[in-house]
Formats: sequence, C-alpha cells, structure tokens
Amino acid sequence: MAILMDGKALSDQVKAAIQADVLKITETRKPKLAVVLVGDDPASQIYVQSKIKACQQVGIESVAKVFDADITQIELLVALKRLNQDTTVDGILVQLPLPKHLDEQEVMLNISPEKDVDGFHPLNVGRLHLRQATFVPATPKGIIALIKAYNIDLEGKDVLVIGRSNLVGRPIAQLLLNENATVTIAHSRTQDLKQLTKAADVIVAAAGVMHLIQPDTIKAGVVLIDVGIHRDSNGKLTGDVAPSCYEKASYYTPVPKGVGPMTIAMLLKNTMQAYQRQVKQHEV
Ligand code: GUN
Repeated sequence: MAILMDGKALSDQVKAAIQADVLKITETRKPKLAVVLVGDDPASQIYVQSKIKACQQVGIESVAKVFDADITQIELLVALKRLNQDTTVDGILVQLPLPKHLDEQEVMLNISPEKDVDGFHPLNVGRLHLRQATFVPATPKGIIALIKAYNIDLEGKDVLVIGRSNLVGRPIAQLLLNENATVTIAHSRTQDLKQLTKAADVIVAAAGVMHLIQPDTIKAGVVLIDVGIHRDSNGKLTGDVAPSCYEKASYYTPVPKGVGPMTIAMLLKNTMQAYQRQVKQHEV
C-alpha cells in the first residue's frame, strides 16, 4: 500500500510550532513579513492572500504592498528600498511572475539578502550552491521537510528532478545532492524522459505538465513528489503525476494538500529565521 505524504498535516504541525515560538517572544516587536504584489494576476492574488492568512494564523505580522501592473521599475525599486530600510520588516517577498516590462533579476537583486525569505537573491542562491547557511526557497525546503518527516532515505538513491526552474528544479536538485542522493535533472529538451522515470527511486515532478507521469513509466516502489498544480477538465486540482500512479508508489504527495501547504509553512519558518537574526543583531 502506498503511503500518502500528508503535507497539510505536517504544515499544520510546523505552523503550530511557529505559533508557539511567536507566543514566547519577549521583545516588543513581533516578526513581520512584507508581501509585494504587482498587477492583478488572479493566481498571484490567491497565493498572496494565503500567505497573509498563514501569517495571521501564527501571529506573524504582515503587510501587503499592492501595485498597479504599470508600475515602473524605478518605482518598484524605491518601494523595495523603503522595505529594506524599515527595521520593523523582517522578511520581504515579491510575488512572481512580475509583469513583462519589469526586470525580475534586478528586482531580486534589490531585496536585502537578510530579508530575502524566498531565497531568490543571487547572494542567497550562491550560498545554497556553496552549502552555506542561507534562506532556502520555500517549496524545495518543504519537499525536504516532507521527505524527512516520512524517514525516506535519500542516501545514494537515484532521484530524478523534472524541471529546471530557479524556484524549484535547481534549488531542490542542490538540496537533494546535499542529502547524498544521485541527482538527475530532466527538462523539456530531455530526449528520453521515460527511460529516466523508469529508473528513478524518487521523482520530483516540477515540469508544469498535467499528468506527465504515468503508471507505465515508473518503477514499483518509487517515491513520487508532485509539485505541479493544474485544473483538470472537471475543474478539480491535480498535479504533474497522474493519480493512477499512486498504487504503484511506496510514497506519494497528493495534489492538493501535498507540497503546496508545505511551501507556505516554510515561508513562515524563513520569516522567523529573518526575525531572529535581526533581533540578535540589535542585541549586540
Ligand atoms: N510564484 C510562484 N511561487 C513563488 C514563490 O515561492 N515565491 C514567490 N515570491 N513567487 C512565487
């Protein structure tokens, strides 16, 4: 019987622990996350709302900075500078994707690395690759937390990551490597994906292709981590992994309530990390 990896339950545990930590804070100031949203993309609006709601649940303060889609690069950078300088703000998150006319890389570069709770600033990306302490991007961090919570051994295992995005594919490959997995990264130009999926002990599906993974292309006992989120023809949420694969797996993450809730829990964790660092700095 395949075991469902319950991201909702684990994220609730993580959030309860954070809530308890927030209650223990004796400083006058509570942790605070600033969420920047540009434009009115409906998916981004929902993500931002759930991030703010999660902050409220655990007692982390939050502020949403919402800008029109036609904001200029300079105006956005000025807003970020203010947040960088605001000593009551611990974490800053700019919801992606940004409208096409904005330079995403320059925006990331202008978030203070100490407040970069997404871990997208090039300095923090570099630190992750060098195995130095940093903010680990929330989705990959959540995947590793789930794998560890279910005591899944990664040592020497053949792990296939499908997708090479800056948000998920690349950072999760690094983290898996740190766990001594043998990591392969596949992507849209990979010539023989089936051969790779058939050989993998663990598959992290972050391709953004609905039901890319099918039961006839995986081996029995595989661990399936599904980062995809799509709506099927009935309007139901589903992932990159066809649910018919589950019975062949040893462990799998469902969609929804798998990786998704872990992402938000890890963002809260990173915000606490930013707060603790900032508070410590001001003690000295
Ligand atoms: N858009 C999709 N995922 C993310 C994320 O983890 N962080 C931000 N800032 N934007 C996203």
